[in-house]
Amino acid sequence: MIEIQRDGAVQVIRLNRPSKKNALTGEMYEALAGALEAGNTDKGIRAHLLLGVPGAFTSGNDIGDFLGFAMSGGGMQDAPVVRFLRALVQCDKPLVAGVDGLAIGVGTTLLFHCDMIFASPRAVFRTPFLDLGLVPEAGASLLAPRAMGHARAFELLCLGEPFDPVQAKAAGFVNHIVAEEELEPRALAAAQAIAAKPAEAMRLSRALLVGDRDELRARMEEEIRLFSERLSSDEARAAFTAFMDRARPAG
Ligand code: COA
Repeated sequence: MIEIQRDGAVQVIRLNRPSKKNALTGEMYEALAGALEAGNTDKGIRAHLLLGVPGAFTSGNDIGDFLGFAMSGGGMQDAPVVRFLRALVQCDKPLVAGVDGLAIGVGTTLLFHCDMIFASPRAVFRTPFLDLGLVPEAGASLLAPRAMGHARAFELLCLGEPFDPVQAKAAGFVNHIVAEEELEPRALAAAQAIAAKPAEAMRLSRALLVGDRDELRARMEEEIRLFSERLSSDEARAAFTAFMDRARPAG
């Protein structure tokens, strides 16, 4: 469900669970975290490229898994998703993403950790956290207002308004809008160009741009604490159950 390949010095990480629109499971988060962590120590990896499948970058966290957390009443401090989120903050190689179609929930918020984002014209960025009784995650409550200002971040993160690629580009978190068939070659070419730059100068420069990771870590941990609490709230349980019931085949 996560395919990892090497193209020269680019680690290509593909989300590949098309039957569920690339909804992310614990197993997938573990694989994603492992790939990002490997990049920090492997000198052969000089950039990461994150891709999905046609029409679906990812529909976000698997809602069945959310329901499992909600029913168990347990927190998610040690959950694979948290390992992945921490790996995103720790990542010290440039991240390029190619987004075709759905980028929902963490599918949008992870993009705030990326350095270059290519989106197809049919990309949709949406974070329905509030409607699920949840709060934003992945540091988005800090990074989104910084990237696009409070007003647009409020629309995205609190109202769950879908952003199309033109809005996302205007909001500063998409670099280029590229036709579906050109998306992956263009994103790979960008990742290759990044990988060809002097590695240490790139690492230092990117770290300067990322800025204070302690502030980001602290915000992310606060989000995780609130998110964990919210998972077993009545509002969240009702929303998860409604989605799973809707998804259940008739009869
Ligand atoms: N978790 C679990 N399953 C999901 C999922 C998710 N996040 N997103 C999609 N799926 C499943 C659907 O249940 C369906 O499964 P089924 O074929 O066994 O019934 C399959 O993927 C296809 O999805 P479907 O809803 O039929 O496709 P669609 O094109 O009509 O709608 C979405 C796609 C993504 C808009 C819709 O599935 C959706 O809203 N998903 C939930 C997104 C979400 O809230 N994510 C969490 C963010 S915090």
